[in-house]
Amino acid sequence: MIKFSPSLLAADFSKLESEIKRVEAAGADMLHLDVMDGVFVPNISFGFPVIKSIRKCTDIPFDVHLMITEPGRYIDVVSDAGADIITFHYESCENHLEVINAIKAHGKKACMSVKPKTNAEVLKPYIPYLDMILIMTVEPGFGGQAFIEHTVENMRTAKRLCKEIGREVDIQVDGGINPVTAAVCAEAGANVLVAGSSVFRADDPRKVIDEMRRSAEAAL
Ligand code: DX5
Ligand code: ZN
Repeated sequence: MIKFSPSLLAADFSKLESEIKRVEAAGADMLHLDVMDGVFVPNISFGFPVIKSIRKCTDIPFDVHLMITEPGRYIDVVSDAGADIITFHYESCENHLEVINAIKAHGKKACMSVKPKTNAEVLKPYIPYLDMILIMTVEPGFGGQAFIEHTVENMRTAKRLCKEIGREVDIQVDGGINPVTAAVCAEAGANVLVAGSSVFRADDPRKVIDEMRRSAEAAL
């Protein structure tokens, strides 16, 4: 089953509660929250106090994408802020297993991500411990970028690595996802689609989510 995680980065920040309710009503399965530190990526978004505040607006699962260096420093605080799934980047630290264990110790789902230029093969040792893998389909840091085609190879690699050890792990894609690229990703094995601008900037987000679902499911 294909799941949708609209990225709040593309929302109107002056009315977060109504923006969240709008995508929830449109069929979002979870909400993608992009935390950037201006070091791991050349941009700064919002942080943990904001996540904690919006936690009061909805019960939808929070899928927090940490684009920060040394994410291990913040697993306690992001867990307390209300994250349900915590994603960190392979490229952001050396102590990957420690970070995964810290996430699990808080009872949260652990996800590791690779940037487009990183070969997803690096994830192999961690797959037994992960609940989800995030294949970045743009260079992290900004919404509204174009989908990078060669990232499809990383989706196929992630799918194969999971199959090799007989583990069902969600494969998420993030960046430039729209009804056309959703089908490409689903065909390559992705089942959790993050979409920022295509959903939040739409007059009718339900129509866009339905359209992405149709095209993704038709590609399976
Ligand atoms: C980019 C973020 C994405 C971003 C996606 O670094 O990780 O989640 O919001 O935005 P779109 O869907 O507009 O490419
Ligand atoms: Zn993201």
